[in-house]
Amino acid sequence: MGSGVIAILLTLMAVVAEMQIEGLTDFTRLDFPPPPNFVFGSGSSAYQVEGAALEDGRTPSIWDTYAHSGYTHGANGDVACDEYHKYKEDVHLMAETGLEAYRFSISWSRLIPNGTGAVNPKGLQYYNNLINELINHGIEPHVTLFHYDTPQILEDEYGGWLSKKAVKDFVAYANVCFREFGDRVQHWTTFNEPNVFVLFGYDSGLLPPNRCSSPFGTNCTRGNSSTEPYTAAHNILMAHASTAKLYMKKYKAVQHGFIGLNIFSYWYIPYTNATEDVIATQRANDFFIGWFLNPLVYGDYPEIMKKNAGTRIPTFTKIESREVKGSFDFLGVNHYATAQVKDMSISLQMDSRDLLADMAVTIKLNESDFPPGQFPLNPAGLKELLEYLKGYGNPPIYIHENGLSAIRNGTLDDIPRLQYLQGFIGSLLTAIRNGSNTKGYFTWSFLDVFELLDGYNSGYGLYYVDLDDKNLKRYPKLSAQWYSSFLKGRSTSSDQKIEVSANISDFKESHFSQ
Ligand SMILES: *[C@@H]1O[C@H](CO)[C@@H](O)[C@H](O)[C@H]1NC(C)=O
Ligand SMILES: *[C@@H]1O[C@H](CO)[C@@H](O)[C@H](O)[C@H]1NC(C)=O
Ligand SMILES: *[C@@H]1O[C@H](CO)[C@@H](O)[C@H](O)[C@H]1NC(C)=O
Ligand SMILES: *[C@@H]1O[C@H](CO)[C@@H](O)[C@H](O)[C@H]1NC(C)=O
Ligand SMILES: *[C@@H]1O[C@H](CO)[C@@H](O)[C@H](O)[C@H]1NC(C)=O
Ligand SMILES: *[C@@H]1O[C@H](CO)[C@@H](O)[C@H](O)[C@H]1NC(C)=O
Ligand SMILES: *[C@@H]1O[C@H](CO)[C@@H](O)[C@H](O)[C@H]1NC(C)=O
Ligand SMILES: *[C@@H]1O[C@H](CO)[C@@H](O)[C@H](O)[C@H]1NC(C)=O
Repeated sequence: MGSGVIAILLTLMAVVAEMQIEGLTDFTRLDFPPPPNFVFGSGSSAYQVEGAALEDGRTPSIWDTYAHSGYTHGANGDVACDEYHKYKEDVHLMAETGLEAYRFSISWSRLIPNGTGAVNPKGLQYYNNLINELINHGIEPHVTLFHYDTPQILEDEYGGWLSKKAVKDFVAYANVCFREFGDRVQHWTTFNEPNVFVLFGYDSGLLPPNRCSSPFGTNCTRGNSSTEPYTAAHNILMAHASTAKLYMKKYKAVQHGFIGLNIFSYWYIPYTNATEDVIATQRANDFFIGWFLNPLVYGDYPEIMKKNAGTRIPTFTKIESREVKGSFDFLGVNHYATAQVKDMSISLQMDSRDLLADMAVTIKLNESDFPPGQFPLNPAGLKELLEYLKGYGNPPIYIHENGLSAIRNGTLDDIPRLQYLQGFIGSLLTAIRNGSNTKGYFTWSFLDVFELLDGYNSGYGLYYVDLDDKNLKRYPKLSAQWYSSFLKGRSTSSDQKIEVSANISDFKESHFSQ
């Protein structure tokens, strides 16, 4: 169990060859509503881009601990892209590219180094500087409060998200953010893909805080894969709900902003048309999407989760249910690919089960359609996913992450990424034309950042960051030029010729030898 899903995440890092994109390819920025009704941007998260990990009073998060324990090819985010020092340069680059919005996260342990209590003035100043710089360049800040980075001090003190104490501390942290930045920040996301965070952090143990139990995970020194994913998710949902309630009561009327939660989702299709695979596909959607979205929309977990997890999934009290229901203005979605779902109901016969055994599916790559090791990219899956989400009352949606990973080898010639973005943005347009209430799209990622599983071995960036250069110089890839010309209103038709140097050494020659 578990290895199927893990294989898929690992495959996100695979090298991808050129692909043919079918469907809508000839469109322009003007086919979408103008800002602020719809924004195009790009994203990052604090630990992946800031660096200055132990500078100016920041303390480690569980992600620092994970990165320093050898999970990411010996790499870590101590320096990352050094955006902490280079934010002006980066915002300038964003403006040049034509970004209308930038999605970034606040490092809780930079702002409040003890997790709770005093605010770090240097942290406050950094985020004020970044936000002001963005606004001065006409770029909307879209802020995430939590992106895999529980302050280590709270993990040590009470077990982080396994404890209800984290709810109170998170709300207090969020309150500082709303109070200090809310006059300029209109879009707040409480948690980034908590479904993946708890699945990999508390079931398989592959991501921070690396908790799991045998036989479900490997090499964990502590944890309980049968119960902890459900407990952590419940506390995260209640932290989200309390935070949203605080924002709606105390800040929204004055600051006029919006608050939401983000989830990760593949588009799932049945492996075969057999009834059990079709039912398994619905089950996968209930476990991945419904786990968080059903509480937000209906005030409770999906029936199938309650049935399969039994007493291991917490029950919402009446008060909790009322608080969580309706606690969002928008849903954030991280979407990269389509996956196939095969029934694995046999796993329900095991006496001891983890979350994945409760889900009772095998998630497969659509391998048959692609050469070995290559990722099943299916732009149409985004439109299908958005159609599916309409079923939840057509909530406002931001595509918070979408992009393509490739090995970092110095090439700036990323035609596959360009085609990927073109395909998915076209698919998004099709969904919008059919009534999807999607209000924004962010590529992952603006720069080649420190990646969660892969360190610096691969990247999704529009811009390459030269790690061999002590100034960590940024170089635009073809995809940056394509996105920029799209954002500036030009046609996206793929026969458009983009003149660009194909790799870093060419680029350096043409720019530095004059
Ligand atoms: C953090 O807690 C320690 C010990 O309680 C205290 O000495 C320190 O001043 C606190 N730091 C901040 C920034 O609140
Ligand atoms: C688990 O630990 C063993 C022995 O230390 C090591 O060989 C293996 O690679 C580890 N597995 C993972 C998934 O970290
Ligand atoms: C996990 O917790 C459940 C419920 O408390 C318990 O029955 C089970 O033995 C625990 N498993 C481990 C590996 O500790
Ligand atoms: C499932 O049925 C549809 C419609 O009949 C068909 O297009 C599709 O190829 C079938 N899929 C599989 C995996 O057999
Ligand atoms: C996956 O396989 C199914 C069935 O063969 C096919 O209908 C579908 O187009 C394939 N590709 C993707 C990416 O979904
Ligand atoms: C670099 O990687 C890309 C795909 O990520 C590949 O197309 C290209 O051939 C590679 N170049 C070299 C020099 O390895
Ligand atoms: C368009 O939206 C309608 C209403 O939500 C839905 O019934 C229909 O299936 C959608 N069309 C496509 C092609 O997805
Ligand atoms: C970049 O281009 C130069 C000159 O054309 C070539 O020698 C070199 O192999 C290329 N490097 C990569 C990584 O593609």
